[in-house]
Amino acid sequence: MKMIKNILIAATLGVTTLGTAGVVYAAGGSSEMPEGAMKHEKWSFNGPFGKYDKAAAQRGYQVYKEVCSSCHALDHLSFRHLGEKGAPFYDANFPNPNDNPLIKGFAAEWDIADIDGDDGSAITRTGIPADYFPPIYENAIAAANANGKAPPDLSVMVKARNGGADYLYSLMLGYDYETPAKMKDSMGAGSYYNPVMEGAVIAMPPQLVDGAIEYEDGTEATKQQMAYDVTQFLAWSADPKLEQRKRVGFGTMIYLSILTILLYLSYRQVWKDVEH
Ligand code: HEC
Repeated sequence: MKMIKNILIAATLGVTTLGTAGVVYAAGGSSEMPEGAMKHEKWSFNGPFGKYDKAAAQRGYQVYKEVCSSCHALDHLSFRHLGEKGAPFYDANFPNPNDNPLIKGFAAEWDIADIDGDDGSAITRTGIPADYFPPIYENAIAAANANGKAPPDLSVMVKARNGGADYLYSLMLGYDYETPAKMKDSMGAGSYYNPVMEGAVIAMPPQLVDGAIEYEDGTEATKQQMAYDVTQFLAWSADPKLEQRKRVGFGTMIYLSILTILLYLSYRQVWKDVEH
């Protein structure tokens, strides 16, 4: 009997601890930069009930397509991912994104390198939803040659940098600061002062200027808006299952809480006539 009692107590304790430990969030930070350069936004996808801002992520795709995609690839993303559940362009009428005309349209805007099924020769064909976003350059050397440094893949960038979404957002808006005099001489052509970047020098020219694109939904394309939207989009691409995971996480917490109560009650029941 003693053993059963111990097991019950251990289980009750274990369940409670698990429940409390369930929600842990980390935040990144950086040092030595002008005040306000590293911004701290309230992102809709943080917190236990976090969700992506779908409208913003849709506009963010437009920013990616019209601005970033001339240099940066999205290695880990296929066109159909854009239309899956939890994705910016999910449409309940098309549970299979391969059938979604919007997704087909996105895919068709890209040329995909392929091989001719009959004679094996290299061909270029129009994209289909199942294709992955194609590489922008032939290889990393060509990418570096064209830009000073190779523009990295953006599909998991939000997960790859300390500070995550705040970092990306701040980096895109980090070009407005005066280059410190002591750095001016050492910075060659093709390098830009951006205090958010490690070392404060970046090979990417400033990308966002007010009105650079015309949003399809009519939103005014200020640079803050574009930075915000592209961050929502790239936060989603780096963690497409976030909403699903948070839903399951919440369900699990409720389940564990109920289990804790039941275990406690059964413990009381089992031991009610025993002196202890
Ligand atoms: C003209 C080419 C070009 C375009 C267009 C461009 N970038 Fe870049 N980007 C670069 C280059 C080159 C680098 C590498 C910079 C370095 O390592 O110094 C880079 C690096 C980055 C990085 C990584 C910084 C780091 O911490 O290493 C991010 C994030 C980024 N770009 C986001 C974007 C976004 C978002 C867009 C579209 C709004 C965009 N870029 C458009 C050329 C470009």
